[in-house]
Amino acid sequence: MDDIDPLWRPAGALTALPEDEPIGIELPDADDRPVKIALVRRGAAVYAVHDRCPHRGAPFSELGLIDDDGTLLCGWHYWGFDLDSGRHTQVEGIRVCTFPTRVVDGAVEVDVARPPHRSPPLVTLD
Ligand code: FES
Repeated sequence: MDDIDPLWRPAGALTALPEDEPIGIELPDADDRPVKIALVRRGAAVYAVHDRCPHRGAPFSELGLIDDDGTLLCGWHYWGFDLDSGRHTQVEGIRVCTFPTRVVDGAVEVDVARPPHRSPPLVTLD
């Protein structure tokens, strides 16, 4: 993997994020292009994924759910994704782009150094 310096962007206060509810934000990438991100807080941890389901493009910030196991579910057709890796929970090779996060003095930051410059190919099942 090539070395790219992190590009931390402020994403609000940790306490402003509801528990287990995907929240949509837009952060500028290195070229000032907006990157749509869904943030999910689970306790003191914050996860960031591309706000676009790789199936048919539904925004997780509007249709996403977190199940009891902490899996991100797309509410359109209920595909599930691991919040850490972005991997589909059942189908090998399908994943959503994830972004590193950190919390500094109660403020959430997201590293957008590796944004999904192009949307991942949508998967058609039928
Ligand atoms: S659009 Fe997300 S599961 Fe179909």
